[in-house]
Amino acid sequence: MQEFGCTANLHRKIFFVVFVTSVSILMISYYDSTKLINTQMFFTTPENESTNNGTKYLVSTSKCKIVDLDPFSKDAKRYFKPLKYKSCSQHRLLTYVTKEDNISTLNVDKDLIPVYTSKDVKCCYSNVTRFVPTNNPDSSIKISDCKTFSSKVQILTDAVLVKCTESRADKKIYENVHTSVRITDEVQKKINNTDNGAKLPSVLFIGIDSISRLNFLRTMPDTYKYVNDHGWLTLDGYNKMDDNTFPNLMAIFTGYNQSRAYEVCNPKVAGMLDECPLLWFTYGKLGYITAYGEDEGAISTFNYNKKGFIKPPADYYYRPYILATEKLPKTGLNGMNYCTGPETAGERILNLIKDFTITLKDYPTFGIFWMNSFSHNEINSPMMLDNKVKLTLEELGNNGIYNNSLVIFLSDHGMRFGDIRLTETGWLEERLPFIYFSFPADFKEKFPTEYNNFLNNRNKLTTPYDLYMTLQNILVLYKMNYTVSGSDACPNCTSLFAEIETERSCEDAAIEQHWCTCAGYTETILDPTVHKSLSTFVEEKLHQITSNTSRGGGDGKCAKYIVVEFISTRLSHKLTYKSSTYILVSFKTEPKAVFEMTIKYDGDIRLGNFTSSDISRLDSYNGHSKCVDDAFLKKYCYCIKSRERIFLYGMLIVFL
Ligand SMILES: *[C@@H]1O[C@H](CO)[C@@H](O)[C@H](O)[C@H]1NC(C)=O
Ligand SMILES: *[C@@H]1O[C@H](CO)[C@@H](O)[C@H](O)[C@H]1NC(C)=O
Ligand SMILES: *[C@@H]1O[C@H](CO)[C@@H](O)[C@H](O)[C@H]1NC(C)=O
Ligand SMILES: *[C@@H]1O[C@H](CO)[C@@H](O)[C@H](O)[C@H]1NC(C)=O
Ligand SMILES: *[C@@H]1O[C@H](CO)[C@@H](O)[C@H](O)[C@H]1NC(C)=O
Ligand SMILES: *[C@@H]1O[C@H](CO)[C@@H](O)[C@H](O)[C@H]1NC(C)=O
Ligand SMILES: *[C@@H]1O[C@H](CO)[C@@H](O)[C@H](O)[C@H]1NC(C)=O
Ligand SMILES: *[C@@H]1O[C@H](CO)[C@@H](O)[C@H](O)[C@H]1NC(C)=O
Repeated sequence: MQEFGCTANLHRKIFFVVFVTSVSILMISYYDSTKLINTQMFFTTPENESTNNGTKYLVSTSKCKIVDLDPFSKDAKRYFKPLKYKSCSQHRLLTYVTKEDNISTLNVDKDLIPVYTSKDVKCCYSNVTRFVPTNNPDSSIKISDCKTFSSKVQILTDAVLVKCTESRADKKIYENVHTSVRITDEVQKKINNTDNGAKLPSVLFIGIDSISRLNFLRTMPDTYKYVNDHGWLTLDGYNKMDDNTFPNLMAIFTGYNQSRAYEVCNPKVAGMLDECPLLWFTYGKLGYITAYGEDEGAISTFNYNKKGFIKPPADYYYRPYILATEKLPKTGLNGMNYCTGPETAGERILNLIKDFTITLKDYPTFGIFWMNSFSHNEINSPMMLDNKVKLTLEELGNNGIYNNSLVIFLSDHGMRFGDIRLTETGWLEERLPFIYFSFPADFKEKFPTEYNNFLNNRNKLTTPYDLYMTLQNILVLYKMNYTVSGSDACPNCTSLFAEIETERSCEDAAIEQHWCTCAGYTETILDPTVHKSLSTFVEEKLHQITSNTSRGGGDGKCAKYIVVEFISTRLSHKLTYKSSTYILVSFKTEPKAVFEMTIKYDGDIRLGNFTSSDISRLDSYNGHSKCVDDAFLKKYCYCIKSRERIFLYGMLIVFL
């Protein structure tokens, strides 16, 4: 009965939504089809604009002017909401791992048992190992039978799952997954071959997804203070080269753009990523001990609608561990797995970073660690882990990790969807992720020219492709047997240790206009006839994408969009070196979606001589793109099935 009530309620809600939507659409199409809604109208806080005079720039050359907005600008403040850390467990962890002589041991903290229960407790552990079936090579794990142990047991596999129950009642009181850096034969071989005289620097990537430079300043003040106080260097003009994580990380590790990456390393074909010329493989072949760990198994960089790797892509591959943690009871936050069992998914990655770098600190390592769980979906959520991230960076410092490491602490892009994306700061922030570098202690002394070049590049336009060149440059600077090759997508990109051309344009840096922040945009009221031709143009563009059967789309699958409202129309500022002007439009459609498109025109705008580059999706498409698999198409396809379902629910109510 209860359930039936819920369903009826749901029907009523759906009907209401359908009704209101239809009425709104009717009203909009009759009364509002040409009216421009200026976003500024929504923001009527009675504060003075403080930076009206004398705009400041992060990069300021004739070919590139990137505006320096206040992290707490009026627009940004509207969306700012302080958040606190939330613990995933009421008690301290009942189990922990110790390491002695490279032997990892899982322990039960007997003293803590009374905190969990007054009864007797028994614990058992299972081995967790990677399992590679052909249909799902990178997302399967095997969990062995659970073997009882008394207080400690050695860890001999990728990870272990531990469960503790009250002995009599068999009632579960605790469950967790642990991993620990073990020295395998392969790693020992690398260690044996390490030339201790060479003092090769380790390379450590610490990534947090979807955090812009400005949102980093807003939401991670403790971490910011740490990196700033310790002289880490940032690149103010670091501009992403494409929409999301995969292309931006592929640009760093292969120098390819998205389309080339799909040709050479097609992540949809199992085995192709294994053969991909990723620079961390190169480092591995040159004797570096490698690691890759990322939280959020489902949306991991190489696995979200992709096949991932058949062979473990690193000496320490933490995916089996993460997949095992996701089998524990989870607490979601904004659609992410904030808690996996008694720990936050974010802290699990932070702990991996410590374990890997500190255990192997005497040897050259190349580690990539990426976090999504507290940053991907909500712009304020990074605050929750700010202090934990700072404490981790501090602990690495206390263990001497920075002495001989190049640390690259970065994000891939800013927040890609949500209300802030309709503001100027949201547009800019999406394109300018945060990035900081910490150099080996003797780098400045050893390579003064390179270091100075880096300093001079901080206020230039830079891209992930430059990072690709930089990682290769390191190999050469430290005299490894390696020959540099140019970035395929950006042949003119250079290492950050070389002098980057001051007068650099987005074209020079292989950044498409849609992602380019070199010229700002100003809200402009356009002629109604221009609106009409723009509507037709963008509807056609979207239709071209969603009807493309070679990506798995098609008219039978994806609905055809109609523009119902332009949220904003902005014109690009002029840069003298080029003649074209760009229109940045964001608009709402029926079926309900919000898009942003950069459209180029030459000559008179009323002639409608438009061309466009990429199209961003500004609202979440999670619920209605399930009929297609392609990660790219998912951003655009509104599945007809889900539309029909909503329509039928509506009709049902009408006729009942
Ligand atoms: C393994 O343990 C021994 C003894 O503590 C230590 O000397 C050695 O450096 C360790 N090896 C690694 C790779 O950590
Ligand atoms: C886990 O694997 C190790 C090594 O293969 C083995 O000695 C141990 O018995 C296994 N433990 C369980 C619970 O299966
Ligand atoms: C590493 O070197 C040690 C001592 O020279 C040797 O006993 C061991 O077999 C080597 N291990 C590997 C995996 O090569
Ligand atoms: C720091 O690194 C330098 C150069 O690699 C080395 O000579 C020095 O001993 C290291 N210091 C510490 C505290 O590890
Ligand atoms: C350098 O690498 C090349 C190709 O990988 C190899 O043929 C050559 O022997 C190496 N040189 C040295 C000095 O190791
Ligand atoms: C991607 O890079 C290739 C060169 O590898 C280039 O031919 C192609 O035009 C680029 N694609 C885009 C969309 O920029
Ligand atoms: C690279 O730079 C050279 C010299 O400035 C220029 O002629 C060439 O067009 C550039 N290539 C690309 C792909 O931007
Ligand atoms: C359709 O998709 C394929 C890639 O899957 C692409 O090569 C082609 O250009 C697309 N066609 C259109 C009209 O966008």
